[in-house]
Amino acid sequence: MTTDRIWYGGDYNPEQWPSDVWDEDVRLMQRAGVTVATVGVFSWAKLEPRDGYFAFDWLDDVLGRLHAGGIGVDLATATASPPPWLTTAHPDVLPVTADGVTLSVGSRQQYSPSSATYRRYADRLVRAIAERYRDHPALVAWHVNNELACHVPYDHSDESAKAFRTWLQDRYGDLDTLNEAWGTSFWSQAYSDWQEVVPPRAAPTFLNPTQLLDWDRFSSDAWLGVLRAEAAILREVSPGVPVTTNFMGLYKPSDYWAWAREVDFVSDDHYVDPAEPDAHVRAALTRDLMRSLGAGKPWILMEQATSAVNWRPQNAVVPAGWHRTLSLQAVARGADGVMQFQWRQSRAGAEKFHSAMVPHAGTDTRVFRETVELGADLADLADVVGTTLTADVAIVLDWDSWWAIEQQATPAQLDYAAIVRRWYTVLWRRGVLVDFVSPSGDLGGYRVVVAPAVQVLPAAAQQNLASFVDDGGELVVGYQTGILDERLRAVLDGYLGALQRVLGVHVEEFAPAAAPAGGTLPAFRIDGLAGGEATEWGEVVRVHDAEVLSTFAGGFLDGLPAITRRPGAAGGSAWYVATAPSDLDTLVKAVLEHAAVSVPWPPLPEGTERVRRGPVEFLLNHTARAVTVDGVTVDPFNAMVRRHGSSPSTSAPTGSPWSPKPHSCGSPEGA
Ligand code: GAL
Repeated sequence: MTTDRIWYGGDYNPEQWPSDVWDEDVRLMQRAGVTVATVGVFSWAKLEPRDGYFAFDWLDDVLGRLHAGGIGVDLATATASPPPWLTTAHPDVLPVTADGVTLSVGSRQQYSPSSATYRRYADRLVRAIAERYRDHPALVAWHVNNELACHVPYDHSDESAKAFRTWLQDRYGDLDTLNEAWGTSFWSQAYSDWQEVVPPRAAPTFLNPTQLLDWDRFSSDAWLGVLRAEAAILREVSPGVPVTTNFMGLYKPSDYWAWAREVDFVSDDHYVDPAEPDAHVRAALTRDLMRSLGAGKPWILMEQATSAVNWRPQNAVVPAGWHRTLSLQAVARGADGVMQFQWRQSRAGAEKFHSAMVPHAGTDTRVFRETVELGADLADLADVVGTTLTADVAIVLDWDSWWAIEQQATPAQLDYAAIVRRWYTVLWRRGVLVDFVSPSGDLGGYRVVVAPAVQVLPAAAQQNLASFVDDGGELVVGYQTGILDERLRAVLDGYLGALQRVLGVHVEEFAPAAAPAGGTLPAFRIDGLAGGEATEWGEVVRVHDAEVLSTFAGGFLDGLPAITRRPGAAGGSAWYVATAPSDLDTLVKAVLEHAAVSVPWPPLPEGTERVRRGPVEFLLNHTARAVTVDGVTVDPFNAMVRRHGSSPSTSAPTGSPWSPKPHSCGSPEGA
C-alpha cells in the first residue's frame, strides 16, 4: 500500500440509492475529507443480473464521479453474496450446518467455500471486474470478498467433506498415518477407507479431538482458499495493485497468521460495544494484533460504526467524541486508514438501523458533524503515514491452542481470548505497547514474551521459547501451555517439554476452579508475590530448579508453588504462573522491572491511553469524565495530539503543545 495521506471513508453502496443521490454523495464526501470509498462489496446481483451478462455501466459512472471528486476507490470483488439466480440454478453452492440443515438465500454469504460451482462463478466475476477496472485512475486497492468466514465459518456439505478428505490426504498421506495421528484406537474409531472420514457432524457424544482440530484447520484453510483464488486472479490481471481483505479482529475460526501472508496489507473491521466496560482495551488489543499480523507494517481500519450498530440485542449509542478517539487510537497503533461501515445509512434492508457517516436525518446531525471533524483531524496526521512502532513486549497468540483449549472433554471450559485479554489489559493499563507473535515466530526483538495458555506447543515451538530465555529474554509461561503436541497427544513426563529445562518445573496434576471461567478456586489464595486470590486455575507444580515466588494457600494445593522463576544463562529468566492471580498487575510489574522495560511516562488515569507513533504523540481519554495528564486536561471521550522532533525518545518526551483544544462535537450546524 502506498499512500501519502490517511485513508478516510467507508463502504459506499450507491446501488441502494437513485443516481441523483450520487452527486450529493461526492459533494458530501469532499466536505467530510473522504479520501477513499470501498465500492461494490455486495454488488454481484447488480453487476451480473443474469448468468454471464455483465452490467458495468452504473459502476463506470460511480467510479468516474468518485474520481472526478478526487476520491480513490478500494474496489471490491463483489463475491460476498451470490445472487439468487445462481443458487437457484446451482443449489449445490449452498452451505450445510453440522445438523444437516441447508442454508437458504435471502441473506448473505450463502455459499460453501469449497463449492467448485461458486469458485467458477466467482472467478469469472473477479476476472471481469479486474479486467475492466485495472487501469482505472481511481483504483487504489482490491478488496477481496468481505469478512470471509463471518457467517459460515464451517460448512458440513458433502462437497466440503470431499475437500476435507483431500486436505487430510495432503497432510497425512495415508490412512494409517491419519489413524495414528487421530488416535483412533480409542473408542473403535479406526478408519479403513477414506470415504468413511467425514466432517465432525452432529454425533452422540464427544467427537475425536484431533478430527475436530483438523476440521478447524481445514475450515480456516478453506476460506483462505477463497482469498488465495481471488488474489491470484487480481495479481495476474493487475500486477502492482495492492490486495487486501477485511479481517475481523481476534476471530476464532480464522488463523490470521496464515491469512496475513496472502494480503499486501492487513485490514480489519472492529465494532466496539459501548456497553462493554473495557471496550477501548479490546479495541487496542485488536489494533496491536493487526499491526503484528502485518509484521509491523501499517494496516487499515476497514470498518467501524460511527455510532450504534443494529446487530446486538441492545445497540448502545457511541457517545459524542468517542468515535474520533477510537479512530485516533487505531492511527496511534499503526493504522494508515480509518474507514467506516458505511457512507450513507441504508433506507431499506437489514442494516437500515445501523449508523453511518451520513445518517437518515441528514447532515445537520451530531454524527455528520463528527464525520467532518474526523476527516479534518486525519488530514492533519499525514506525517504519521508509513511510520512504525516498536514494542518490547510480545504475547504469544496461537489458533491451534485456541481451537484445542475450547474443545469439550477438557479439564475445564476455559475462554482462550479472555485469558489473552487478561494479560494484555494489565500491560495496556501500564502503558506498555504489546505485539503479538505466533509460537514459532521471531522473538529476537523482544525483552519480554508472555505465553498464556498456549496449550498446543510442537517441539520446535517449545525450543523457540526456550531459546528466547537462553538468549537473555524474560519468558512468562502461563498455565495450560505446552500440554499437547500438534496432534493433540499429551506431552508426557510433566508437560512443558523443552520448557521444563528453562523453567525448572514440571506439572503433575491439574486443579481448575470448580466454577466456570474466571471463578475463584475454592479456598485457594496465593501468598508471596502477587498475593491475593487464585482464580480460574490451580495445579500441582513440582520444582526441580527454580525460585518459588508465591505459593498456593489453603485446600488441596496448600504450600505448593503458584509462581516460580528460574534465571537464564544470559541474564533473562523464565517465570511459570500456575493460576490467574487476582493481582496480576503486581506480577507484571515485577517481570517488567526485571526485564528493564520502561514506559516513557508515569501511570495514567483509568481509561486513558498515551501512545507515540513517529513524530506524533496521542493522548486519548476513553471515559465519560475529564482527565488531567501532565497538567493538560482532556475532555470526556476526547483525544489530543502533539508533535516531537524526528527521533523517538525513551525519556519523557517534550514537544509542541497538545492540540486541538476541546472540539465542537455535538453543536448544531451554524452554531
Ligand atoms: C460487517 C460487514 C458489513 C456490515 C457491518 C455492519 O460485519 O462487513 O457489511 O454488515 O458488519 O456492522
